[in-house]
Amino acid sequence: MALRAVFTKYNKGAALAAASATTAAFSLVNSQSSAKCEEETLHSPSYPWDHLGLLSSYDCAALRRGFQVYRQVCATCHSVERIHYRELVGVTHTTEELIEMASEVDVLDGPNDEGEMFERPGKLTDPLPSPYQNEEQGRMANGGALPPDLSLMVKARHAGQDYLFSILTGYMDPPAGKEMMPGLYYNPYFPGSAIAMPPPLQDDGVEYEDGTPATISQQARDVVQFLNWCAEPEADGRKKDALTYMVVLGITAVVTGYYKRFRWATLKTRAITYVK
Ligand code: HEC
Repeated sequence: MALRAVFTKYNKGAALAAASATTAAFSLVNSQSSAKCEEETLHSPSYPWDHLGLLSSYDCAALRRGFQVYRQVCATCHSVERIHYRELVGVTHTTEELIEMASEVDVLDGPNDEGEMFERPGKLTDPLPSPYQNEEQGRMANGGALPPDLSLMVKARHAGQDYLFSILTGYMDPPAGKEMMPGLYYNPYFPGSAIAMPPPLQDDGVEYEDGTPATISQQARDVVQFLNWCAEPEADGRKKDALTYMVVLGITAVVTGYYKRFRWATLKTRAITYVK
């Protein structure tokens, strides 16, 4: 992983050097001094995520912190509608904590006996609440750009978690000469470099229960791990099952090999003689 990071860095360095050389040559030929910014989208570096190893699992403390960042920051604009409170039991919180958390939300249910819709406190079986009633309301609140549902976002973008981490930590001032339209923010990792999401994270924007310093990169790391869990909640179980299968298959292969030699022994050791 570290090697890959070095390579990516090296490649990016080489690519940037080549790009600046081309730009320099171009501006010499064209006798122009301005740089072109439109094609400057950066590819995210690859980060060494702890949970990606063959035998490593999610870090539940990080998932708990990430869920907190999601609830306190991202949930104002983004839904995670495929995740239900019950699925978080034993992952980020205990059953009691989640029952209480769910009951703080008013959920529209019904119809009742009289055909009326009614509101009731949320239950463990409810999905996490969405900030907007529908797509149009979401667009209306964000200057026309819809904050997408984040349940499967890690899988929906090339470079998944690395890209999400880069987007969240990659905001910066636009380079000189780059005009930003109102409501758009400069982020070199977003295709086109102009994103409609205002920088969501700030240092100490949340206060972690476990005392972890809430820097921007820490919050980004935690929330991306949480979103990775949302997209792949089965990852830990899958790795555990795979290990069991490999061990069982290994034993079966040895037993089968031995059994085959045993059954074939009579045939393999017989001597065939032909009478002249
Ligand atoms: C103020 C509202 C707001 C908040 C808060 C917010 N976002 Fe967004 N987000 C948006 C909007 C609007 C877009 C669509 C941007 C666009 O299409 O230009 C977006 C897009 C995204 C995208 C998709 C980028 C892509 O490649 O299409 C991701 C991932 C994302 N947000 C993650 C997050 C995370 C994680 C948080 C919490 C830390 C967060 N957002 C907080 C408004 C918000």
